[in-house]
Amino acid sequence: MKKPLVVIVRNIPKQGLEELYKHCRVIMHKDSTPPTRAQLLSYAKKADAIVTVLTEKVDAELFAAGKNLKIVANYAVGYDNMDVLAAHRAGVYVTNTPGDLGASVAEHAMGMILVLSKKMLQGDSFIRANKYKAWDPNLLLGNDVRGKTLGIIGVGNIGSALVKIAQGGFGMKILYHDIIRNKKIEQEHQAKRVSLSDLLKASDAVSVHVPLLPATRHLISAKKLNMMKKTAVLVNTARGPIVDEKALVRVLRANSIAGAGLDVFEFEPKTAPGLSKLPNVVLTPHIASATVEARTQMGEIASQNIQDVLIRNKKPRNALEA
Ligand code: GLV
Ligand code: GLV
Repeated sequence: MKKPLVVIVRNIPKQGLEELYKHCRVIMHKDSTPPTRAQLLSYAKKADAIVTVLTEKVDAELFAAGKNLKIVANYAVGYDNMDVLAAHRAGVYVTNTPGDLGASVAEHAMGMILVLSKKMLQGDSFIRANKYKAWDPNLLLGNDVRGKTLGIIGVGNIGSALVKIAQGGFGMKILYHDIIRNKKIEQEHQAKRVSLSDLLKASDAVSVHVPLLPATRHLISAKKLNMMKKTAVLVNTARGPIVDEKALVRVLRANSIAGAGLDVFEFEPKTAPGLSKLPNVVLTPHIASATVEARTQMGEIASQNIQDVLIRNKKPRNALEA
């Protein structure tokens, strides 16, 4: 029997895909840039399964093009690029890559909190500008994170991993906001569930870990940013549009919060005017899950979901529900 055809629409690391290559014919997009829309549709047209990433819009038009398409496996935890309802209507499975890799993103968020609290960026610029002449006890005084309050918005895989790191490793007190109560982190890490406003008012660092949905777009609005402490920092490793980025630039300029760490942007890959000129921000190009370990796991999960459908004839383990 002819092996089923899988098209991977972006050039992704090969680690984790070994079994997929064994059981299926696999074509991978060669360029490091995204496919054009026409290319994407032609990939969908010939494939039994496609692997997409967050830059590709997975919608009704794509499902209609895919006459043999049975599954679209998103190589990402977030799936705001996919129309899950249209997938159900078209009878195509859609999946994402949840799992332990949440801890990779949580490490990135914790790293940003530390970089901001210890003024590492300012210190790095200071040395590169050749300004370091003698040790100065008043130079770049930051703050310890130990004993401080971390507010986590959204405690799924990633938010919970950050609870463990921040409370277990750094002795931070945890406040969280989520529509669902998480008894495990309350019992194991003394995390306290509060309203979003109370979280913003009381936290020394705030980290965002909710998915992008109509209800979470601009969840962190100008009004919400103004509730934060003057000494607090905001970190976003989730999705850019959850934070009103223009408003964030305004509050940072006015020093009404102390700093921000952003791995994602409202109009990615663009950043809001003025953002990259500010000294108290750390910016990374959507790389919070860009570790060999996380990418390997993402590959394995996408591969297993596809094999569930094409080889084992069953519902994929990470099927998304509309
Ligand atoms: C990356 O942003 C992901 O959702 O996995
Ligand atoms: C600082 O370097 C110290 O030794 O206290």
